[in-house]
Amino acid sequence: MKQDTKIVNAGRRKEWTNGSVNPPVQRASTIVFDTVKDMKNAIVNRANKTLFYGRRGTTTTFAFSEAMTQLEGGAGCALYPCGTAAITSALLSFLKAGDHLLMVDTTYEPTRDFCNKILKGLGIETTYYDPMIGADIKSLIRPNTRVLFLESPGSNTMEVQDVPTLAKIAHETDITVILDNTWGSGIQFKPFDYGVDISVQAATKYIVGHSDAMMGTATANEAHWPTLRENSYLLGQCASPDDCYMALRGLRTLSVRMKQHEQSALKVAHWLSEQPIVKTVLHPAFKECPGNEFFERDFNGSNGLFSFVLEDVNDSDVDDFLDNLAHFKMGFSWGGFESLVLRVSGLDRLRTAKPWTEKNPVIRLHIGLEDVDDLIEDLRQGLARFAQ
Ligand SMILES: Cc1ncc(COP(=O)(O)O)c(C=O)c1O
Repeated sequence: MKQDTKIVNAGRRKEWTNGSVNPPVQRASTIVFDTVKDMKNAIVNRANKTLFYGRRGTTTTFAFSEAMTQLEGGAGCALYPCGTAAITSALLSFLKAGDHLLMVDTTYEPTRDFCNKILKGLGIETTYYDPMIGADIKSLIRPNTRVLFLESPGSNTMEVQDVPTLAKIAHETDITVILDNTWGSGIQFKPFDYGVDISVQAATKYIVGHSDAMMGTATANEAHWPTLRENSYLLGQCASPDDCYMALRGLRTLSVRMKQHEQSALKVAHWLSEQPIVKTVLHPAFKECPGNEFFERDFNGSNGLFSFVLEDVNDSDVDDFLDNLAHFKMGFSWGGFESLVLRVSGLDRLRTAKPWTEKNPVIRLHIGLEDVDDLIEDLRQGLARFAQ
Protein backbone atom coordinates (compact mmCIF):
# COMPACT_ATOMS: atom_id res chain seq x y z
CA MET A 1 0.00 0.00 0.00
CA LYS A 2 1.36 3.44 -0.91
CA GLN A 3 1.88 5.98 1.86
CA ASP A 4 -1.08 8.27 1.05
CA THR A 5 -3.47 5.31 1.04
CA LYS A 6 -1.99 4.11 4.31
CA ILE A 7 -2.53 7.53 5.92
CA VAL A 8 -6.23 7.44 4.97
CA ASN A 9 -6.77 3.91 6.28
CA ALA A 10 -4.39 3.68 9.25
CA GLY A 11 -6.04 2.68 12.53
CA ARG A 12 -9.54 2.43 11.05
CA ARG A 13 -10.25 -1.10 12.19
CA LYS A 14 -14.01 -1.67 12.63
CA GLU A 15 -13.35 -2.60 16.24
CA TRP A 16 -12.32 1.03 16.88
CA THR A 17 -14.64 2.86 14.47
CA ASN A 18 -17.78 0.87 15.21
CA GLY A 19 -18.81 1.31 11.57
CA SER A 20 -18.37 5.08 11.25
CA VAL A 21 -15.55 6.63 9.24
CA ASN A 22 -13.84 8.04 12.31
CA PRO A 23 -13.68 6.32 15.69
CA PRO A 24 -16.09 7.73 18.26
CA VAL A 25 -14.44 9.49 21.19
CA GLN A 26 -14.62 6.91 23.95
CA ARG A 27 -13.97 8.75 27.21
CA ALA A 28 -13.47 6.51 30.19
CA SER A 29 -11.69 6.13 33.46
CA THR A 30 -13.64 2.98 34.28
CA ILE A 31 -14.42 -0.04 32.19
CA VAL A 32 -17.10 -2.33 33.64
CA PHE A 33 -17.25 -6.10 33.20
CA ASP A 34 -20.24 -8.45 33.35
CA THR A 35 -18.46 -11.51 34.64
CA VAL A 36 -15.36 -12.53 36.57
CA LYS A 37 -14.24 -14.37 33.44
CA ASP A 38 -14.41 -11.16 31.36
CA MET A 39 -12.44 -9.32 34.03
CA LYS A 40 -9.77 -12.02 34.13
CA ASN A 41 -9.50 -11.92 30.33
CA ALA A 42 -9.02 -8.18 30.46
CA ILE A 43 -6.19 -8.61 32.98
CA VAL A 44 -4.43 -11.13 30.77
CA ASN A 45 -4.76 -8.94 27.65
CA ARG A 46 -4.42 -5.53 29.27
CA ALA A 47 -1.24 -4.57 27.40
CA ASN A 48 -2.72 -5.49 24.00
CA LYS A 49 -5.35 -2.91 23.12
CA THR A 50 -8.01 -4.50 25.28
CA LEU A 51 -10.39 -2.38 27.36
CA PHE A 52 -9.20 -2.69 30.97
CA TYR A 53 -8.91 0.70 32.69
CA GLY A 54 -8.87 4.25 31.26
CA ARG A 55 -5.13 4.74 31.70
CA ARG A 56 -4.49 1.70 29.48
CA GLY A 57 -6.52 3.37 26.74
CA THR A 58 -9.89 3.24 25.01
CA THR A 59 -10.88 2.43 21.43
CA THR A 60 -10.04 6.01 20.35
CA THR A 61 -6.51 5.87 21.76
CA PHE A 62 -6.04 2.35 20.37
CA ALA A 63 -6.99 3.65 16.92
CA PHE A 64 -4.46 6.49 17.07
CA SER A 65 -1.69 4.31 18.46
CA GLU A 66 -2.28 1.72 15.74
CA ALA A 67 -2.36 4.42 13.05
CA MET A 68 1.02 5.77 14.19
CA THR A 69 2.53 2.28 14.14
CA GLN A 70 1.26 1.78 10.60
CA LEU A 71 2.65 5.17 9.58
CA GLU A 72 6.10 4.96 11.18
CA GLY A 73 6.59 1.19 11.22
CA GLY A 74 7.73 -0.68 14.31
CA ALA A 75 5.85 -3.00 16.64
CA GLY A 76 3.81 -0.57 18.72
CA CYS A 77 3.28 3.05 19.71
CA ALA A 78 2.92 4.47 23.23
CA LEU A 79 0.98 7.70 23.65
CA TYR A 80 1.77 10.66 25.92
CA PRO A 81 0.14 14.00 26.74
CA CYS A 82 2.89 15.89 24.84
CA GLY A 83 6.12 15.35 22.93
CA THR A 84 8.29 16.18 25.92
CA ALA A 85 6.63 13.43 27.97
CA ALA A 86 7.34 11.01 25.11
CA ILE A 87 11.03 11.98 25.10
CA THR A 88 11.50 11.81 28.86
CA SER A 89 9.59 8.51 29.17
CA ALA A 90 11.57 6.90 26.36
CA LEU A 91 14.82 7.95 28.06
CA LEU A 92 13.70 6.80 31.50
CA SER A 93 12.56 3.48 30.07
CA PHE A 94 16.07 2.57 28.95
CA LEU A 95 18.35 4.29 31.49
CA LYS A 96 19.10 3.62 35.15
CA ALA A 97 21.48 5.01 37.78
CA GLY A 98 25.11 4.64 36.70
CA ASP A 99 24.30 4.61 32.97
CA HIS A 100 25.73 6.93 30.36
CA LEU A 101 23.73 8.73 27.66
CA LEU A 102 25.01 10.15 24.37
CA MET A 103 22.82 13.12 23.48
CA VAL A 104 23.02 15.13 20.27
CA ASP A 105 24.20 18.69 20.92
CA THR A 106 21.47 20.17 18.70
CA THR A 107 18.62 18.67 20.67
CA TYR A 108 15.41 20.48 21.59
CA GLU A 109 16.13 22.69 24.63
CA PRO A 110 13.77 20.95 27.13
CA THR A 111 15.39 17.59 26.25
CA ARG A 112 18.77 19.06 27.21
CA ASP A 113 17.31 20.53 30.41
CA PHE A 114 15.84 17.14 31.31
CA CYS A 115 19.28 15.51 30.95
CA ASN A 116 21.06 18.24 32.91
CA LYS A 117 18.51 18.39 35.71
CA ILE A 118 16.48 15.20 36.14
CA LEU A 119 18.82 12.54 34.66
CA LYS A 120 21.84 14.07 36.40
CA GLY A 121 19.99 13.91 39.71
CA LEU A 122 19.26 10.23 39.09
CA GLY A 123 22.96 9.47 38.58
CA ILE A 124 22.79 9.20 34.78
CA GLU A 125 25.59 11.05 33.00
CA THR A 126 25.08 12.77 29.65
CA THR A 127 27.75 13.48 27.03
CA TYR A 128 26.71 15.85 24.24
CA TYR A 129 28.06 15.05 20.79
CA ASP A 130 28.46 17.03 17.57
CA PRO A 131 25.55 16.12 15.23
CA MET A 132 28.13 15.73 12.42
CA ILE A 133 30.29 13.28 14.39
CA GLY A 134 29.42 10.27 12.19
CA ALA A 135 31.54 7.17 12.78
CA ASP A 136 33.65 9.00 15.40
CA ILE A 137 30.78 8.45 17.83
CA LYS A 138 32.72 5.28 18.64
CA SER A 139 35.28 7.30 20.62
CA LEU A 140 32.56 8.55 22.99
CA ILE A 141 31.04 5.15 23.77
CA ARG A 142 31.82 3.85 27.25
CA PRO A 143 31.12 0.43 28.78
CA ASN A 144 28.09 1.94 30.56
CA THR A 145 26.65 3.84 27.53
CA ARG A 146 23.08 2.60 27.21
CA VAL A 147 21.29 5.11 24.96
CA LEU A 148 22.24 7.12 21.87
CA PHE A 149 19.74 9.93 21.29
CA LEU A 150 19.42 11.68 17.92
CA GLU A 151 17.40 14.58 16.64
CA SER A 152 17.66 15.10 12.92
CA PRO A 153 17.54 17.77 11.62
CA GLY A 154 18.72 19.54 14.79
CA SER A 155 16.49 22.03 16.56
CA ASN A 156 16.71 25.50 15.00
CA THR A 157 20.05 25.02 13.21
CA MET A 158 18.95 22.03 11.06
CA GLU A 159 22.09 19.83 10.94
CA VAL A 160 21.13 16.44 9.43
CA GLN A 161 22.66 13.37 11.08
CA ASP A 162 24.06 10.23 9.46
CA VAL A 163 21.45 8.07 11.21
CA PRO A 164 22.36 4.64 9.73
CA THR A 165 26.06 5.00 10.55
CA LEU A 166 25.34 6.14 14.11
CA ALA A 167 22.76 3.39 14.66
CA LYS A 168 25.05 0.69 13.28
CA ILE A 169 27.87 1.64 15.65
CA ALA A 170 25.50 1.91 18.62
CA HIS A 171 24.16 -1.58 17.94
CA GLU A 172 27.64 -3.10 17.97
CA THR A 173 27.49 -2.68 21.76
CA ASP A 174 23.75 -3.08 22.26
CA ILE A 175 23.03 0.62 22.79
CA THR A 176 19.40 1.69 22.31
CA VAL A 177 18.94 4.29 19.55
CA ILE A 178 16.20 6.86 20.14
CA LEU A 179 15.36 9.52 17.56
CA ASP A 180 13.29 12.68 17.94
CA ASN A 181 11.56 12.34 14.55
CA THR A 182 9.24 15.34 14.92
CA TRP A 183 10.68 17.12 11.87
CA GLY A 184 10.59 13.90 9.82
CA SER A 185 6.98 13.45 11.04
CA GLY A 186 6.77 9.78 10.04
CA ILE A 187 6.46 10.53 6.33
CA GLN A 188 9.60 12.47 5.41
CA PHE A 189 11.88 10.12 7.37
CA LYS A 190 11.23 6.43 8.00
CA PRO A 191 13.17 5.74 11.21
CA PHE A 192 13.04 1.94 11.27
CA ASP A 193 14.56 1.68 7.79
CA TYR A 194 17.70 3.39 9.17
CA GLY A 195 18.32 1.41 12.36
CA VAL A 196 16.39 3.49 14.90
CA ASP A 197 14.94 1.49 17.83
CA ILE A 198 12.49 4.11 19.12
CA SER A 199 11.06 7.04 17.18
CA VAL A 200 9.62 9.84 19.27
CA GLN A 201 7.40 12.57 17.93
CA ALA A 202 5.86 15.74 19.26
CA ALA A 203 2.62 14.89 17.44
CA THR A 204 1.65 18.35 18.67
CA LYS A 205 3.31 19.59 15.46
CA TYR A 206 2.53 18.10 12.03
CA ILE A 207 0.38 15.13 13.09
CA VAL A 208 -2.18 17.25 14.95
CA GLY A 209 -1.39 19.93 12.37
CA HIS A 210 -3.89 22.56 13.50
CA SER A 211 -2.22 24.03 16.63
CA ASP A 212 -5.08 22.98 18.86
CA ALA A 213 -3.88 19.93 20.81
CA MET A 214 -0.76 18.56 22.52
CA MET A 215 0.30 14.96 21.89
CA GLY A 216 3.38 12.76 22.11
CA THR A 217 4.13 9.39 20.53
CA ALA A 218 6.95 6.88 20.88
CA THR A 219 7.00 4.05 18.36
CA ALA A 220 9.33 1.13 19.02
CA ASN A 221 10.67 -1.85 17.13
CA GLU A 222 9.90 -5.42 18.21
CA ALA A 223 12.88 -5.70 20.58
CA HIS A 224 12.14 -2.45 22.45
CA TRP A 225 8.35 -2.33 22.40
CA PRO A 226 7.57 -4.45 25.52
CA THR A 227 9.93 -2.40 27.73
CA LEU A 228 8.81 0.95 26.34
CA ARG A 229 5.12 0.04 26.69
CA GLU A 230 5.43 -1.25 30.23
CA ASN A 231 7.73 1.46 31.55
CA SER A 232 5.66 4.26 30.03
CA TYR A 233 2.62 2.74 31.70
CA LEU A 234 4.48 2.49 35.02
CA LEU A 235 5.40 6.16 34.66
CA GLY A 236 1.67 6.91 34.50
CA GLN A 237 1.70 8.10 30.91
CA CYS A 238 -1.49 8.21 28.87
CA ALA A 239 -3.24 10.50 26.38
CA SER A 240 -6.74 11.92 26.34
CA PRO A 241 -9.19 10.27 23.89
CA ASP A 242 -10.36 13.73 22.77
CA ASP A 243 -6.81 14.70 21.84
CA CYS A 244 -6.24 11.34 20.13
CA TYR A 245 -9.33 12.05 18.05
CA MET A 246 -7.85 15.43 17.06
CA ALA A 247 -4.52 13.80 16.24
CA LEU A 248 -6.19 11.16 14.07
CA ARG A 249 -8.17 13.83 12.26
CA GLY A 250 -4.98 15.80 11.65
CA LEU A 251 -3.17 12.70 10.47
CA ARG A 252 -5.60 12.13 7.57
CA THR A 253 -4.39 15.27 5.79
CA LEU A 254 -0.73 15.06 6.83
CA SER A 255 0.55 14.13 3.41
CA VAL A 256 -1.27 16.81 1.41
CA ARG A 257 -0.46 19.47 3.99
CA MET A 258 3.18 18.44 3.96
CA LYS A 259 3.49 18.74 0.19
CA GLN A 260 2.26 22.33 0.40
CA HIS A 261 4.43 23.20 3.43
CA GLU A 262 7.44 21.79 1.60
CA GLN A 263 6.80 23.55 -1.69
CA SER A 264 6.08 26.95 -0.12
CA ALA A 265 8.98 26.74 2.33
CA LEU A 266 11.43 25.93 -0.46
CA LYS A 267 10.16 28.92 -2.44
CA VAL A 268 10.52 31.24 0.56
CA ALA A 269 13.95 29.80 1.44
CA HIS A 270 15.27 30.30 -2.11
CA TRP A 271 13.90 33.83 -2.19
CA LEU A 272 15.52 34.60 1.17
CA SER A 273 18.87 33.23 -0.02
CA GLU A 274 18.89 35.95 -2.70
CA GLN A 275 18.33 38.84 -0.29
CA PRO A 276 21.46 40.87 0.57
CA ILE A 277 20.40 41.21 4.23
CA VAL A 278 20.31 37.41 4.59
CA LYS A 279 23.70 35.83 5.32
CA THR A 280 22.77 32.12 5.24
CA VAL A 281 19.69 29.95 4.93
CA LEU A 282 19.64 26.94 7.28
CA HIS A 283 17.47 24.45 5.40
CA PRO A 284 18.25 20.70 5.16
CA ALA A 285 17.58 20.72 1.40
CA PHE A 286 20.26 23.40 0.85
CA LYS A 287 23.81 22.34 -0.03
CA GLU A 288 25.23 24.69 2.64
CA CYS A 289 23.34 22.86 5.40
CA PRO A 290 25.61 20.47 7.35
CA GLY A 291 24.48 16.94 6.55
CA ASN A 292 22.66 17.90 3.32
CA GLU A 293 24.11 14.72 1.76
CA PHE A 294 22.30 12.63 4.40
CA PHE A 295 19.11 14.57 3.82
CA GLU A 296 19.36 13.84 0.08
CA ARG A 297 20.10 10.17 0.77
CA ASP A 298 17.61 9.36 3.55
CA PHE A 299 14.65 11.77 3.50
CA ASN A 300 11.58 11.70 1.27
CA GLY A 301 11.28 15.47 1.40
CA SER A 302 11.22 18.50 3.67
CA ASN A 303 8.55 20.48 5.50
CA GLY A 304 7.75 24.08 6.44
CA LEU A 305 10.36 24.62 9.16
CA PHE A 306 13.77 26.22 8.58
CA SER A 307 15.91 29.11 9.80
CA PHE A 308 18.04 31.85 8.34
CA VAL A 309 20.87 34.04 9.60
CA LEU A 310 20.70 37.78 9.08
CA GLU A 311 23.67 39.99 8.31
CA ASP A 312 25.03 42.06 11.19
CA VAL A 313 22.00 44.19 12.16
CA ASN A 314 20.82 46.05 15.27
CA ASP A 315 18.79 44.13 17.83
CA SER A 316 16.11 46.82 17.85
CA ASP A 317 15.76 46.51 14.07
CA VAL A 318 15.24 42.75 14.44
CA ASP A 319 12.50 43.44 16.98
CA ASP A 320 10.95 45.92 14.58
CA PHE A 321 11.09 43.34 11.75
CA LEU A 322 9.34 40.74 13.91
CA ASP A 323 6.78 43.09 15.45
CA ASN A 324 5.54 44.32 12.10
CA LEU A 325 5.09 41.18 10.04
CA ALA A 326 1.48 40.71 9.00
CA HIS A 327 1.19 36.99 8.24
CA PHE A 328 3.93 35.56 10.45
CA LYS A 329 2.80 35.47 14.07
CA MET A 330 5.33 34.93 16.83
CA GLY A 331 4.98 31.64 18.69
CA PHE A 332 7.05 28.82 20.19
CA SER A 333 5.73 26.11 17.92
CA TRP A 334 5.43 24.86 14.37
CA GLY A 335 3.64 22.23 12.30
CA GLY A 336 0.23 23.94 12.23
CA PHE A 337 -1.49 25.39 9.15
CA GLU A 338 -0.30 28.89 10.03
CA SER A 339 3.00 30.67 9.46
CA LEU A 340 5.12 31.47 12.48
CA VAL A 341 8.34 33.31 13.21
CA LEU A 342 10.69 33.60 16.15
CA ARG A 343 14.18 34.80 16.88
CA VAL A 344 16.29 31.86 18.05
CA SER A 345 18.04 32.69 21.29
CA GLY A 346 20.63 31.05 23.53
CA LEU A 347 22.55 29.09 20.87
CA ASP A 348 25.86 30.06 22.53
CA ARG A 349 24.60 28.39 25.73
CA LEU A 350 22.79 25.47 24.05
CA ARG A 351 25.70 24.15 21.99
CA THR A 352 28.46 22.66 24.14
CA ALA A 353 30.04 19.86 22.05
CA LYS A 354 30.68 22.26 19.18
CA PRO A 355 30.27 25.93 20.17
CA TRP A 356 27.96 28.07 18.06
CA THR A 357 30.23 30.84 16.76
CA GLU A 358 27.74 32.75 14.60
CA LYS A 359 27.12 36.11 16.25
CA ASN A 360 24.39 37.37 13.93
CA PRO A 361 20.67 36.91 14.63
CA VAL A 362 19.07 33.59 13.68
CA ILE A 363 15.40 33.68 12.67
CA ARG A 364 13.25 30.54 12.52
CA LEU A 365 10.27 30.42 10.18
CA HIS A 366 7.42 27.98 9.92
CA ILE A 367 5.85 28.32 6.49
CA GLY A 368 2.14 27.66 6.72
CA LEU A 369 -0.56 27.09 4.13
CA GLU A 370 -1.19 30.74 3.22
CA ASP A 371 -0.50 31.80 -0.37
CA VAL A 372 3.27 31.78 -0.62
CA ASP A 373 3.35 35.07 -2.54
CA ASP A 374 1.64 36.82 0.38
CA LEU A 375 4.27 35.37 2.71
CA ILE A 376 7.14 36.52 0.51
CA GLU A 377 5.63 39.98 0.21
CA ASP A 378 5.33 40.16 4.00
CA LEU A 379 9.00 39.23 4.38
CA ARG A 380 10.01 41.61 1.59
CA GLN A 381 8.38 44.52 3.41
CA GLY A 382 9.88 43.36 6.71
CA LEU A 383 13.42 43.05 5.39
CA ALA A 384 13.12 46.41 3.65
CA ARG A 385 12.68 48.01 7.08
CA PHE A 386 16.32 47.15 7.91
CA ALA A 387 17.46 49.53 5.19
CA GLN A 388 15.28 52.38 6.42
C1 LIG B 1 11.88 18.85 17.99
C2 LIG B 1 10.89 18.91 19.10
N1 LIG B 1 10.77 17.85 19.91
C3 LIG B 1 9.90 17.84 20.93
C4 LIG B 1 9.10 18.93 21.20
C5 LIG B 1 8.21 18.88 22.39
O1 LIG B 1 6.89 18.73 22.07
P1 LIG B 1 5.71 19.18 23.05
O2 LIG B 1 5.66 20.67 22.99
O3 LIG B 1 4.51 18.51 22.52
O4 LIG B 1 6.08 18.74 24.42
C6 LIG B 1 9.17 20.05 20.38
C7 LIG B 1 8.33 21.23 20.64
O5 LIG B 1 8.55 22.30 20.14
C8 LIG B 1 10.11 20.05 19.31
O6 LIG B 1 10.25 21.11 18.51
